[in-house]
Amino acid sequence: MSISLSQTLHPSSANFRDDVIEGLGKSPRWIPCKYFYDERGSQLFDQICELDEYYLTRTELAIMERYAGEMADQIGRGVMLVEFGSGSSIKTRILLDHLHKPVAYVPVDISQDHLRKTAEGLRLRYPEIEILPVCADFTEDFGLPTTSRPPTHDAVYFPGSTIGNFQPDQALALLKQIVRLCGCGGGLLIGIDLQKDPKVIEAAYNDTEGITAAFNLNLVDRLRTELGVNLQQADFEHHAAYNSKDHRVEIGLISRVDQEVKIGDHSFQFAAGELIHTEYSHKYTIDGFAELAAQAGLTLHEHWTDPDGLFAVLHLVIVE
Ligand code: TRP
Repeated sequence: MSISLSQTLHPSSANFRDDVIEGLGKSPRWIPCKYFYDERGSQLFDQICELDEYYLTRTELAIMERYAGEMADQIGRGVMLVEFGSGSSIKTRILLDHLHKPVAYVPVDISQDHLRKTAEGLRLRYPEIEILPVCADFTEDFGLPTTSRPPTHDAVYFPGSTIGNFQPDQALALLKQIVRLCGCGGGLLIGIDLQKDPKVIEAAYNDTEGITAAFNLNLVDRLRTELGVNLQQADFEHHAAYNSKDHRVEIGLISRVDQEVKIGDHSFQFAAGELIHTEYSHKYTIDGFAELAAQAGLTLHEHWTDPDGLFAVLHLVIVE
């Protein structure tokens, strides 16, 4: 049986096209940040995490290395730990190394491929923990797998300050979903990037090697190669600036010239200097985040930070 090309070829590129057309038509214009992470984008993101200016990853890692024992004590015995993200990171392993008799570890990720690789590695390393990957978009409701031994409670691990990439109302919705998922007695261990000198924050998103710019501009390449759009990287410029009022880095692509962007029958007129938003990265205070989480039914139990107060890992619990 022959299958038409439009059916076999990348169902995701159809979404990409629709999402880009919808986003470019908005005011302000947007391209959803999930499209950063194709193969090249994921490689560049790994490089970002190693940059001198990008303090987030190494600071969170240092906090985990130093306090994972205390975190494990707070989380408690016999947990089913659910990670939002594929769980391939070294932070995950540090936590798993310290947890007290965890029953199961459930990485939740949209990429089947990442999940499979992660699960294989973790099963070898932790034969005594049931590794039960779930392929899902964690921003939508999904069910937890059944374990062979019942867990005492469920807890979500959400590292990387990824929560900061959601607008506060979306972040609240996600926290509420975590509460529904884990229920009473459940918990959340979450990494958040803290408010600080805007110069330090801006440097983290404008590195001198230009890796962040390459990561952002990779979207332009995707528009050209996957959607046939008439654009080159040189037509746009990387932009990342801290908005002190809303406590967020606003990342986007600035059109260098007046230009028309065509996608099939759709056409978008850009003025020189016009911005396409690609991502926000919100920065919190510990109290501010605790207030947001309280609205979802989560109570701050304990937090750990680095000596310079750059980043924090919070343990919150669900109480009725
Ligand atoms: N979660 C990361 C953050 O907000 C994602 C990120 C890092 C990012 N650098 C970026 C997103 C540059 C877009 C552009 O820090």
